[in-house]
Amino acid sequence: MKKKLSILFFTVFSFAFAQNNNIDQKVENLLKQMTLEEKIGQLNQYTGDNTITGPLTINPNKKEEIKQGKIGSMLNVLGSEYTRQYQELAMQSRLKIPLLFGLDVIHGYKTTFPIPLAEAASWDLQAIELSARVAAREAASSGIHWTFAPMVDVSRDPRWGRVMEGAGEDTFLGSKIAYARVKGFQGNKLGELNSVLACAKHFAAYGAAIGGRDYNSVDISERTLWETYLPPFKAAVDAGAATFMNSFNDINGVPATGNSHIQRDILKGKWNFDGFVVSDWGSIGEMIAHGYVKDGKEAAFAAIMAGSDMDMESNAYRNNLKQLVEEGKVPNSILDDAVRRILRKKFELGLFDNPYRFSDSKRQQKELNNSENTKAAREVAAKSIVLLKNENKILPLSKETKTIAFIGPMVKFKRANHGFWAIDLKDVDSTYIVSQWEGLQRKVSKNTKLLYAKGCGINDSNKDGFKEAIDVANQADVVIVSIGEKHDMSGEAKSRSSIAIPGVQEELIKELQKTGKPIVILINAGRPLVFNWTADNMPTIVYTWWLGSEAGNAIADVLFGDYNPSGKLPMTFPRNEGQIPIYYNHYNTGRPAKDDNDKTYVSSYIDLPNSPKFPFGFGLSYTTFDYSDLKLSKNKINRNEEIKVSLKITNSGKIAGEEVVQLYLRDRVASIVRPIKELKGFNKIALQAGETKEISFTINNETISFYNNNIELISEAGEFDIMIGSSSEDIKLKSKFELID
Ligand code: GLC
Repeated sequence: MKKKLSILFFTVFSFAFAQNNNIDQKVENLLKQMTLEEKIGQLNQYTGDNTITGPLTINPNKKEEIKQGKIGSMLNVLGSEYTRQYQELAMQSRLKIPLLFGLDVIHGYKTTFPIPLAEAASWDLQAIELSARVAAREAASSGIHWTFAPMVDVSRDPRWGRVMEGAGEDTFLGSKIAYARVKGFQGNKLGELNSVLACAKHFAAYGAAIGGRDYNSVDISERTLWETYLPPFKAAVDAGAATFMNSFNDINGVPATGNSHIQRDILKGKWNFDGFVVSDWGSIGEMIAHGYVKDGKEAAFAAIMAGSDMDMESNAYRNNLKQLVEEGKVPNSILDDAVRRILRKKFELGLFDNPYRFSDSKRQQKELNNSENTKAAREVAAKSIVLLKNENKILPLSKETKTIAFIGPMVKFKRANHGFWAIDLKDVDSTYIVSQWEGLQRKVSKNTKLLYAKGCGINDSNKDGFKEAIDVANQADVVIVSIGEKHDMSGEAKSRSSIAIPGVQEELIKELQKTGKPIVILINAGRPLVFNWTADNMPTIVYTWWLGSEAGNAIADVLFGDYNPSGKLPMTFPRNEGQIPIYYNHYNTGRPAKDDNDKTYVSSYIDLPNSPKFPFGFGLSYTTFDYSDLKLSKNKINRNEEIKVSLKITNSGKIAGEEVVQLYLRDRVASIVRPIKELKGFNKIALQAGETKEISFTINNETISFYNNNIELISEAGEFDIMIGSSSEDIKLKSKFELID
């Protein structure tokens, strides 16, 4: 048997090796035929006209240049028809090198899923991978080869509008999610018709922008870069990410686009990344504005030498690379390496065999927004919802409720559920998006009377609608109020100095509270918001993010108990902007505050409690869970041993539910101070009412290792605390262990 297995393994391995070798050979053969202009052409990317995602395009001759082999990739060309048209132009070029079509498929193509930050709140890696899988299937059926996702930037600053695209503040959770998303987008194998190239972005540390102001500088230690911001990118490499996108920001004074330390030393060197790096929109040319180079020629030189393989929309390579190579300033080897990396992906996608294989209108018709995809979107959306308060147990609502008033500017506003990065498909109107109102209509019994009032706008001071809203509320048995941010209030270039609920929406809630009716608050946003009055005065609050095209159905599923909410916050919610940056895995300092009221010579604010409004990892359920029987297989280990941590979870309530059990560790004493707690494991477990299950985690040397100032990954002997929590603050069970030399 063993012999047969080894023969099988050898056969499979040698086939895969031969296939790869075959592609490398094809790349070399093609490279030899290419002129300098044609090589540079492969490094140029320009936007199509389906949608614009950056400062307007600057190359009016795109179509002509494609025919001349001077452009290798287009972004924002979508749909089987348009991609075919552009590909036909490329087939008129001398060497017929196919175009690569890229697009920001961030959380769904036509069927949109919750924004990534909301999906992170599900802590459900299978659901997150499924979401990316569906997005890839739909995009690939529309001629798209490559998505500019996953965005894996860790961020501790909710003023930064792009937190909506990521997985929140935690490196461990963000790394697991990065891995799942890459696997989801790329599927089993590149070249399959339901897979697209993934693109880990924005490399690197873009989420640490000073002041949470988009595109701003990043100034962090090398150790913080390795400890906090790089691991999700490494996870993307481990998952086989085909491409990376660098970031707009400078890192300690060197723009990422021209930063050979991160792109060559780390990504292509230490991590041995064999894909290619695309710049962000115009970021090569923006090094002039950074003050890092004096002109386009210097920008092109800095970028190509630093490992930026493809130039998105800056013209720097198009206008300067030929001269730089002819002058001998850019070695042919550098240019050829960039071209090889790009050609290899085009071969892997099978584009040389059939450049039109992804542009198939029949497949597109079958795939887009089909029932399998919308079902997945609805399930993932429900899992992403976070129940913040349910004090009077108003939820779940009865479907037989006599009269329900649904009030607020988000109730019938379809587009907002799509979020900032939804693809505005010209060929699709938004009727397929299920509004929150439609979701409610479909959910309740025919005997239920539904009343509606908008109440107010999202971001204006007009209160004229308050009276109607109050009238409607007074006629109802239950009032649901849906408020929040408009879809363009979070996202790229959408940093906010205040993250309060905009407009007069919170004042509307205050007026509705006076009716004395039971009120459920839904908060729709792309980021953590500040809403202290509502949080302190309203007993039932549900955070519904921007949940995608099935938002209405998913919200109704949760409100009426067809899905028991299981989401947990992937970011800390501050009491106000003055607390930012605020995150759970902070250091203790020499003067830690004992509690929220401790203000005597300790690290605190005199005008605010120290704790956040809602902590990382927090989320409620309609049921309750008991934690018990924490056991360690050992209390002492050396670096070659591991500890099995086991515990029991019981659903002590009356309805089935899911709990995200979180494992936090604390290294009590180390040569570099360690956080008061760090997430090192989680397990989302489903339990029927009354059911008990045992779960376990493994702790080993890797779990407790950290970077020292020499960027060595080390572990140090000593005591460690184990904390098992339902959130980063709600610690249910504790223990400790010791690492010995
Ligand atoms: C934008 C974004 C990037 C996106 C790219 C293409 O500026 O920073 O995330 O993928 O341009 O749209």
